[in-house]
Amino acid sequence: MLDKRGFDLWADDYDKTVGISDEEKTYPFAGYKDVLGSIFQIIVKKQNPTVLDIGFGTGTLTTKLYERGCVIYGQDFSPRMIELAIKKMPDAHLYQGDFTRGLVEPLRHQRYDFIVATYSLHHLTDEQKIEFLRTLQGCLKENGQILIGDVAFETREKLARCREAAGDEWDDEEIYFVADELKSAFPNLSFTQVSYCAGILTLSR
Ligand SMILES: C[S@@+](CC[C@H](N)C(=O)[O-])C[C@H]1O[C@@H](n2cnc3c(N)ncnc32)[C@H](O)[C@@H]1O
Repeated sequence: MLDKRGFDLWADDYDKTVGISDEEKTYPFAGYKDVLGSIFQIIVKKQNPTVLDIGFGTGTLTTKLYERGCVIYGQDFSPRMIELAIKKMPDAHLYQGDFTRGLVEPLRHQRYDFIVATYSLHHLTDEQKIEFLRTLQGCLKENGQILIGDVAFETREKLARCREAAGDEWDDEEIYFVADELKSAFPNLSFTQVSYCAGILTLSR
């Protein structure tokens, strides 16, 4: 599992490596552009919403939202990722902080129309995911939504099939979402498969 330093080292090449994996339709980023594009389309239907991005990275999604007038908040633990993102969004409210310890103080008191997390929350165990998602639900405005785009599957069986197809490329340290298994904790969770290895999970309050 990459730590803060690992993401710092990856930051300058991140967009390139992700783009190649997406274009070649290989695990883990097959469907990446479509995942971010679908989330973008949902958010821009609302007029100037307030958006929190968890693990915003180089700001690929949030920069587009920022340019469309969204008020952007974010938390990431990699100083280099933050440096790259802030250049593109000088007026965004971007904070450094490890989400395994929850939200940083200034972000806890805001309320958001949308909370997005793309390709970041697979660093949490399933138990940590449930706890963190409950915290995030409490930070939503009425009718707000959490939109998670990631390597994700409807069932454990579908995950196993993808794992087999990915072979040695499969990253055993990442803990991917299995939508059906989260439904007991979040009955209103919905899931859309976007590519053979990526999907979008949607949660309201
Ligand atoms: C694979 S990148 C995804 C970036 C971006 N959301 C995207 O879709 O391209 C994961 C991001 O999450 C951040 N991240 C990973 N674990 C984190 C943690 N425990 N706390 C805060 N940020 C974390 C990394 O620094 C990195 O920027």
